[in-house]
Amino acid sequence: AAIYRKDYTPPSHWISTVEMGFDLDPSATRVATRIVFERNHAGSDRTLTLYGDEVELVQLRMNGKALAKRAYQLEQGVLRIPSAPDDVVLEIETLIRPDRNTSLMGLYVSNGNFFTQCEAEGFRKITYFPDRPDVMAKYKVMLRADKRKYPVLLSNGNLIEQGDLGDGRHYALWEDPFKKPSYLFALVAGNLICQEEQIKLQSGRKALLQVWVEEGNLDKTQHAMASLINSIRWDEKRFGLELDLDRFMIVAVGDFNMGAMENKGLNIFNTKYVLANPRIATDVDYANIEAVVGHEYFHNWTGNRVTCRDWFQLSLKEGLTVFRDQEFSADMIGTDSGRAVKRIDDVRVLRQAQFPEDAGPMAHPVRPDSFVEISNFYTVTIYEKGAEVVRMYQTLFGRDGFRKGMDLYFERHDGQAVTCDDFRAAMADANGRDLAQFERWYDQAGTPRVSVTTRYDAGAHTYEMTLVQSGASTAGQEEKRPFLIPVSVGLLDGKGRDMPLSLGDAEEQPTTVVLELKARSQTFLFRNVMEKPVPSILRNFSAPVVLEYDYTDAELAFLMAHDSDAFNRWEAGQRLAMRRLLALTALSQSGDALQVDAALAESFSATLNDGELDPAFRETALNLPAETVVAEQMDVIDPQAIHAARRFLRQSLAKSLRPSLLNAYRDNAVNGPYSPDAASAGKRALRNLSLSYLGELDDEEIHALMQKQYDNANNMTDRMTALAALANSRAAGRAAALARFYSDFEQEPLVIDKWFSLQAMARTTDVAAVRKLMKHPAFSLKNPNRARSLIFSFCNGNPFRFHAIDGSGYEFWAEQVLALDALNPQVAARLARSLDRWRKYAPALREKMHAALKRVADSSRLSKDVKEVITKSLAGA
Ligand code: ARG
Ligand code: ZN
Repeated sequence: AAIYRKDYTPPSHWISTVEMGFDLDPSATRVATRIVFERNHAGSDRTLTLYGDEVELVQLRMNGKALAKRAYQLEQGVLRIPSAPDDVVLEIETLIRPDRNTSLMGLYVSNGNFFTQCEAEGFRKITYFPDRPDVMAKYKVMLRADKRKYPVLLSNGNLIEQGDLGDGRHYALWEDPFKKPSYLFALVAGNLICQEEQIKLQSGRKALLQVWVEEGNLDKTQHAMASLINSIRWDEKRFGLELDLDRFMIVAVGDFNMGAMENKGLNIFNTKYVLANPRIATDVDYANIEAVVGHEYFHNWTGNRVTCRDWFQLSLKEGLTVFRDQEFSADMIGTDSGRAVKRIDDVRVLRQAQFPEDAGPMAHPVRPDSFVEISNFYTVTIYEKGAEVVRMYQTLFGRDGFRKGMDLYFERHDGQAVTCDDFRAAMADANGRDLAQFERWYDQAGTPRVSVTTRYDAGAHTYEMTLVQSGASTAGQEEKRPFLIPVSVGLLDGKGRDMPLSLGDAEEQPTTVVLELKARSQTFLFRNVMEKPVPSILRNFSAPVVLEYDYTDAELAFLMAHDSDAFNRWEAGQRLAMRRLLALTALSQSGDALQVDAALAESFSATLNDGELDPAFRETALNLPAETVVAEQMDVIDPQAIHAARRFLRQSLAKSLRPSLLNAYRDNAVNGPYSPDAASAGKRALRNLSLSYLGELDDEEIHALMQKQYDNANNMTDRMTALAALANSRAAGRAAALARFYSDFEQEPLVIDKWFSLQAMARTTDVAAVRKLMKHPAFSLKNPNRARSLIFSFCNGNPFRFHAIDGSGYEFWAEQVLALDALNPQVAARLARSLDRWRKYAPALREKMHAALKRVADSSRLSKDVKEVITKSLAGA
């Protein structure tokens, strides 16, 4: 039963206020809700529609009287009151069981404490309600609970009153001054403690900031608090947006389906994105925490103050907020090369996860036209491609033009539930531009290709650049109409310097221009080009497309050495490496001997030894494309051959660069106490990449290096890298190090997740080994982080073993999808996507994948989450 965007209708009634009373008890929580409705005269009919999901309806009263059974219909979770009056006060009493809620949607218990997750449609697991984002209301919430077990009672907004109830119970009354949709509702109750800080906002107002955690974790909140303060400052400065509340809380919870949730004034976070200290968190963890804290905080304006009219508009808030968190992280690093590395990391995610999604059975536009289960659409397309779409406005209009568009967006829509069209209109109007064509970025799925050809006329000193765009068809969209694609371009002279560019009649001669490709094919003419240039195309990845240009190896090496655009310098190296990887994969498939490549080693060596280059940039440049990225370049994917090719290339690079790698390892040691700042993290990254390359040599000298690093590490980044290197080697100390790591960190769930995941992704770990790890007492399917650390890490992060030719990986996958689905459909549906690309594999593997998909499809009790994913995978088979 799919829902369609075109079927949107406004609600029959609006809500002015909601009052709720919770009597919290794990096995029987009573929820009394009083909703004041008023007729929406723009609504088409008078049927008041409320949704409920696995809640027991105890009482229902309308305008003071119990509602007779015949006055309403209750069918499959939808409660309809036909011909409702204009003014309605509904009083609803429901009974729920948080302790049995393993879906982690609605109200649930984690380690004895209560938490909620309501986005997208979890509020209906608490009470019957018009649970749709365009129905906004002011909430007043009374929480009552056992005082000893649940000393802390939190909800959205301001704490109005708290006190004792006499019978060992106590209460807290919260009021949120802002109207909000039900998906932003939250409550937390339990035994928690907080770090707090008072800060002064731009306007001079004061705000109280709190980070709440379980006892024993107070030594891990500092970084999240600092990140929150930085986020507040950044939004004031970059967008003129101030915190609108007197109190802003972050709460960490160990059982959580996603990363975090932006509930108004009460953000709830997966512990993974809050807790950090040098002992347990890596540099990447520190960076992720900063990004997610920023992301959720930025939602306060982009998502909460202005929200989505319906869930098809999800990217309105997510794409925009990811863009904002990306810009925030880049600004926090501050340096040009740091910003470039951040950009490269973001594009890497896009290529590794979003491009395959766009080419697979779940392909959907940034603004989908239909869905079965909205939870399945919290995707890299909505988030990361959505962020690229927002970034293109900034590329087209500049930072100032983008800011003008944002200002107009808030001027028009503050307090409203709106659409992606409204955002585009604000950008267009603020910049005096017609952006009708730009809508195609929202309504056409698939990754466009841009093929470029060039022609230099030495006599006329002109350089012609012809761009041709095309898009592969996706499910339900055969033909793609042309996009408006900003293509940022520079031209390099023979010395590698940027040429001043003369294009059209413009007087200025910038070194980078943004070409606006609007037609299927367009030619741009550069004048006064005194020598044949090497083009640097799609600088800073100015659009989410696949760029095709017939570079020679020599040109790529030249760009890698000289391009002033750091992104394209990196890109040139990746293209060179990809060529080698594809050639080696072909050799491996035909059984021929794999050949070493001296030219690539030379370029890599130059980058590695270039002390002028930021270590973080060198690390990213020397990192070969992932196996899954190579796979996307093949017509028929052969995971074994790709693995052999990539391993061989790493080994041969390690062999020929051994002395340089050892130098880099030595020279990039970071002394003194640990700090996660970008400069130190960059040095550690390059040093650890060197160790990981050297690890391919698997000899005693290198084993000693790994062991020494493990023993002496004063931070988790170095410790984890050393352990991963040991785990992938034949070192004598391998087993001992794994055992020691476990016993040293047994009390730290987030570190035990790392322990599982590192083993799940090790070259030596096959299905049997994973099954054995599942029997470990620390393993649990119920905790999403733990399930992800072992099962997802294996199925998505160890392609060589997962795609074992006997199909054992796929059987394991089917079993786990089914087992998880019985507990937590959302998490199961994520795992269900591991076989998205099954049609691209060689017949022997493809048939086994098909059988595994069928096995899941044939189960008689699939959630609609998993069913949607599997049905789409199998469609047309
Ligand atoms: N809005 C959240 C964020 O991106 C994601 C929450 C989605 N949760 C879910 N269960 N679907 O920050
Ligand atoms: Zn978000």
